[in-house]
Amino acid sequence: MNEKRKVLIVDDQERNIKLLALICRNLGHEVLEARTGRQALTVAGERRPDVILMDVMMPEMDGLEATRQLKDDPATAYIPVIMVTALDSREDRLLGIKAGADDFLTKPVDTEELVLRLNNNLRTKEFHDFLENHAQILRQQVAERTLQLRQGYIDTIHRLVLASEFKDEDTGAHIKRISYYTKELALTLGMPNDFADTIFYASPMHDIGKVAIPDRVLMKRGPLDAEEWQIMRTHTEIGAQILEGSESPFLAMAVDIARSHHERWDGGGYPQSLAGEAIPLTARIMNVCDQYDALRSRRPYKPPFDHQRVLEIILKGDGRTLPGHFDPQVREAFSRTAGQFAEIYAAHQDEGAGQPATKETPQ
Ligand code: C2E
Ligand code: SIN
Ligand code: SIN
Ligand code: FE
Repeated sequence: MNEKRKVLIVDDQERNIKLLALICRNLGHEVLEARTGRQALTVAGERRPDVILMDVMMPEMDGLEATRQLKDDPATAYIPVIMVTALDSREDRLLGIKAGADDFLTKPVDTEELVLRLNNNLRTKEFHDFLENHAQILRQQVAERTLQLRQGYIDTIHRLVLASEFKDEDTGAHIKRISYYTKELALTLGMPNDFADTIFYASPMHDIGKVAIPDRVLMKRGPLDAEEWQIMRTHTEIGAQILEGSESPFLAMAVDIARSHHERWDGGGYPQSLAGEAIPLTARIMNVCDQYDALRSRRPYKPPFDHQRVLEIILKGDGRTLPGHFDPQVREAFSRTAGQFAEIYAAHQDEGAGQPATKETPQ
């Protein structure tokens, strides 16, 4: 270590300080001084010396009390304290041990012994600093790696979803919007931040099962017949199967969402005809967000609708969609934050995406 080591000398006698300081400076150390126990606490807290030479008898807090307080404070407990006691004071030594002193020197101080004890205690301190530094570097590395892993993981999910929607006209921006809507709605419902963060990453996987739906059904420019509709409905179960079995909290949540995002509160949905709270909350949130975005967007089978029209369909129904399809609390939260949905939709558009036009007819 090239830096000078700092020795704090605590003594109320000027003569003692001078003597000890001279020896320490000759050894190449930096000297800090304190004349009372109280002052010692202040200097130790501010300057973090590497070792402390502590007199016992002092006004304004003696050396024993100062040592006790230094050892009580995690910020200073690791600084070695060498108590300087009178030669015959067995009592002081015992009290010093109780107070937490690390070592002892007797007065009058023998220079050779002082040098040995200082070096011993400085070595201990140096080793402590090394470990502390090492632990801190490790903690930082672990935090960085964890962040890298998490980002790589989230990136992988994102690409997986992109791949699953590659054939759709509207891809990247749609995925982002779904993330933002579900998080917004979760927070509006009063769900905790970690739930909102998890649904942010889990929700874009809701339709991943559409990879297994044949193009003639997925990209059909018109209503599905009964057989096609039966195929289309399997995207929920297939999605859940693709995502199932991982320990990742994102994927665990995504399984529920994929399986149940077309269930309806009144029990009229698919694939399990679940009703009410038997439908996972995540899927109830997803359902409203999915419909908002599908209604706003152009599909091979439908034109885009504007915000007002979509609000009407979700809150009042259009014959196909009915208010009873939605969890009343989720619907109510949606109505409160619908303005945010409009902003999210406007902010995240694919290049070349058509403007919403209510009167436009399906191509
Ligand atoms: P999607 O296009 O992402 O639509 C998601 C959900 O938004 C639909 O779930 C439905 O609840 C709602 N939605 C979409 N368009 C409309 C609409 O014009 N009016 C109303 N009221 N709601 C709408 P759903 O019905 O379970 O459909 C699931 C998926 O099945 C759709 O996902 C789409 O990929 C496909 N699909 C549904 N109907 C048709 C269709 O008539 N033709 C074709 N080619 N595909 C369809
Ligand atoms: C699409 O059907 O355009 C993409 C799938 C989805 O709406 O989530
Ligand atoms: C659909 O949106 O799934 C078909 C079109 C409609 O029923 O309005
Ligand atoms: Fe779906």
